Amino acid sequence: MNNSRRNGKTSNRKNTVLRAVVIAIPAVVALFAIFGYSPLADGMEDRYRAMLHMAVDNLINQLPYKITDALGYGAYFDFIRFMQRRSQPDLSSPPGSAAYGDLSVTRTGLAGRTVIIYKPKGLTKGELIPALIYLHGGGWALKNPDWYDSSVYPIANCTRKITISVDYRLSPGHPFPAPVNDCLDVVRHVLKHGKTLGIDVSRVGIAGDDAGGNLAAAVALRLSSEKSSGLPALKFQVLLWPPLQAMDFKTPSYTETGDSMSVLGRHKMVGYWALYLGLEPAKVYDYINVMVQNRHVTPQVLRHSKYAEYIDVQKLPVKFRKPRKNPMRAEVKGDSTTNEPERKLSSKELQLFNRIKHHLTNPLLSPLMAPDLGGLPSTLIVLSEFDVLRDDGLLYAHRLRQAGVPIQVYIGRGFHGDFHTYGLFPELLHSRTGQMSVQSVCSYITREA
Ligand SMILES: *[C@@H]1O[C@H](CO)[C@@H](O)[C@H](O)[C@H]1NC(C)=O
Repeated sequence: MNNSRRNGKTSNRKNTVLRAVVIAIPAVVALFAIFGYSPLADGMEDRYRAMLHMAVDNLINQLPYKITDALGYGAYFDFIRFMQRRSQPDLSSPPGSAAYGDLSVTRTGLAGRTVIIYKPKGLTKGELIPALIYLHGGGWALKNPDWYDSSVYPIANCTRKITISVDYRLSPGHPFPAPVNDCLDVVRHVLKHGKTLGIDVSRVGIAGDDAGGNLAAAVALRLSSEKSSGLPALKFQVLLWPPLQAMDFKTPSYTETGDSMSVLGRHKMVGYWALYLGLEPAKVYDYINVMVQNRHVTPQVLRHSKYAEYIDVQKLPVKFRKPRKNPMRAEVKGDSTTNEPERKLSSKELQLFNRIKHHLTNPLLSPLMAPDLGGLPSTLIVLSEFDVLRDDGLLYAHRLRQAGVPIQVYIGRGFHGDFHTYGLFPELLHSRTGQMSVQSVCSYITREA
């Protein structure tokens, strides 16, 4: 009697588990299909991995805010501070990649900031080797070296340089110039005291992706303009998918890609800029609506100033001078700076312009607006064709070339940030273009450092 009741219970439980599995599998598939699916532009490479990568990103990073937005509880930028808290690393345990054993991986303090240092094993005592300082992405508002561990480790492991991944302060709590000042502090410290870390300070380079690419470019510019600082010059800079200007959000790449890529679209990028510029987070969507139309800059500055030359589409390679057709995005009329009639700003828009105009032309915020790039070190720029930020990178490359800086560009047929694997199933998520991005960085650094 007892026995059979127990058996009954066990088989009941088995049935429940089975039923849960039977329901869960199609539910997960349906979730991926409905919320994870991102249509891809024509010409994108390795489409299945790209799609899977975006589905994971959609489910982890986008879905919660799509739901709260639909229910009227706020959209993406309303949750920035929540996301910052959620991504706080557990400082009591070592960084995840410490377990791989190929490198020594330690979290430590440097110049008042937390950093993760990746160091090859088996160095002889007193040996000095080159170093790479890495600045993570996340729109100046998200992520940290621990989140980035799975993306920085492969670079540190293949280059075998000392790699220092920096935790800088984030907007909106700490808008420009706090993040870039933090990075400058760490880089100056490394250039000054690197020897104590085993670093050959004459062979230090800087790298960063997304907002980190902007910060790396800004740091390199600032240091190259301080000839009398007595610090050794940076050896190279590596900029992956960097945002480099906040003047024109209607470049062909912004227009052609628009919001069709969930990883990073035009509205989201403009929102990150708004927070970095120090505009009130509570009104970020109002600012976004003005800025995506370029109504935060007077037509005079946007089209007839020396700055207009830096964002002139005629400086782009011919195939990128006009927004290409994107089957995933409805055509928007007059959606390009050059084709639009000039319209004076409203008094509110003018007010915004007057508030941010000094930032917009400040090279520390907007490296593309620097009058002189001649002192910069050798540069690698990694871009994706299907990224709103593609033209920022191409325009910067054009100016660097003109200034006589040794410059290499790798432009993949992938998407923004395709080198991330989120530490999950790299075989499945790492698209060919993502692997190529990492490889181009590795071989460049191995050669240049
Ligand atoms: C690190 O690099 C070594 C040598 O190239 C390689 O064998 C190893 O698999 C790499 N480690 C990881 C965790 O990728």
